[in-house]
Amino acid sequence: MSKTFYITTPIYYPNGEPHLGHAYTTIATDAVARFHRLRDEETFFLTGTDEHGIKIVKTAAEKNVEPKVLADGMVAVFEGFWKEIGISNDDFIRTTQPRHKSSVQEIIRKLLASDDIYAGSYEGWYDEGQEEFVTETEAKAREFKSAISGRPLTRFSEKSYFFRLKKYVPRLLEYIDQNPDFIQPTIRRNEVVSKLKQGVEDLSISRATLKWGIPMPNDPEHVVYVWIDALSNYITALGYGSGDQSLFDKFWPANVHLIGKEILWFHTVYWPAILFSLNLPLPKKVFAHGWWTSGGKKMSKSMGNFIDLVKMREVIGTYSLDALRYYMLRAAPFGSDLDWTDADFLKSFNELKNVVGNCLNRTLKMIDRYRGGVLPARGELQQIDRDLLAQGEKLAALIADAYERVELQQCAELPVQLARLTNGYIDATEPFKLAKDPAQAGRLDTVLNVAARSIHRVLIGLLPILPKKGAEGLSQLQIDVAGKTLDWLYANPPGAGIKLGDAQPLFPNVPPAGAAT
Ligand code: MSP
Repeated sequence: MSKTFYITTPIYYPNGEPHLGHAYTTIATDAVARFHRLRDEETFFLTGTDEHGIKIVKTAAEKNVEPKVLADGMVAVFEGFWKEIGISNDDFIRTTQPRHKSSVQEIIRKLLASDDIYAGSYEGWYDEGQEEFVTETEAKAREFKSAISGRPLTRFSEKSYFFRLKKYVPRLLEYIDQNPDFIQPTIRRNEVVSKLKQGVEDLSISRATLKWGIPMPNDPEHVVYVWIDALSNYITALGYGSGDQSLFDKFWPANVHLIGKEILWFHTVYWPAILFSLNLPLPKKVFAHGWWTSGGKKMSKSMGNFIDLVKMREVIGTYSLDALRYYMLRAAPFGSDLDWTDADFLKSFNELKNVVGNCLNRTLKMIDRYRGGVLPARGELQQIDRDLLAQGEKLAALIADAYERVELQQCAELPVQLARLTNGYIDATEPFKLAKDPAQAGRLDTVLNVAARSIHRVLIGLLPILPKKGAEGLSQLQIDVAGKTLDWLYANPPGAGIKLGDAQPLFPNVPPAGAAT
């Protein structure tokens, strides 16, 4: 193991329970992290919670509890759910942890030492849901409402410390220009560049009227602006600014910050500018994915279309966790907006079941029926065999390339396409007919062997997205995935003469009336 890979999710506000949106980012990140671990890269996957700021204070007040009590309760729900669905994060950072707070103060000290912070006063609009300053022009254009929640913006005026954001804009524009992969997808990159070119003001980075936050080390009457506090998590979790920076030295810069598109500006403007000021390299990629709606509308509790914990658990209970993972990643090209519908979910579930599950199942059943479960050796190959094997050979490189580009829909679909081809191969070679003719015994051996070889590759390709079902399928082929790398797995298909396992359906039988939600 020599290469390292560091990937992060946003840290979520613990003012409510995790829902489909949070699960989407976290599952996508998990799939990418699993792929890199399977490639034997030393992988660090970070997620966590963003616990300061006005949003938490307000929700806590509504519930009549202290902000920390609200956060503690909700963090347990977030962490518990990630464990329940097998998320493979290596750390979980809470911004209320002492390790984070002291590192953030260290970061502010450094910014002060570089003369990038000055005292002033802020007067203007604020979107409390997004914890975002909104300029007069933007506020007017949005009719003084939040672009995300639609709630009225608030106005405040108070003393504040400012970060010299403007100063870093030319350097940032140059960096974006020279590193075309830094902001992905390209449409998001273009949005950031055009907004940057319209001009940027220095950034207010402290709040004097808020007590729930990390005190500014130079002036404890102020707390650090929640976004500066939150963005820092990507390095404070690695021990930056603490006594032990070994993780930071090993993993920074991050390979990918995976985020939703609504928080792109913070990640591609504020965060890089802070990193410039700290003299640190920028993350290699910030990938902004799209937003989920449900049944064509914004998810909302009152509309009854909210895909919340209860609904996700129902879906997992009926269709399996891996069916949910597959649906999410396959639903749209990664980066585009997505819409949850029951019909779409069922279509995706049936694809997995009928294409992948069925391909494995029929292959194993034929080997059992015709060869007593023992994988036969293959004889002379015909063109149709060579074509399928060639598709299988290509799969690993195509998938690796798709993960590199964070094209997660492709990552999900590529192996399934091979399963579809394999089913077509079985239909075309008609092993059930070959089995009736003793003169075709050698040909039948070859067909069974080639089909098993192909489904073996399908299941390996799906492992990062279907960790459980992929492993279950491979174990029916007598392959134990524990501790194996992708290279090993691809290079070690079940050998001829091996007694394969019993054919067990990979996916549950769900009555057609079963609804996805
Ligand atoms: N705390 C900030 C992030 C700080 S990162 C340094 C925050 N938190 S959040 O709880 O609002 O989570 C936002 C993230 O949740 C989005 O960026 C996205 O990853 C995910 N999603 C929340 N709702 C979503 C959808 N409806 N659809 C897709 N993902 C969305 O912002």
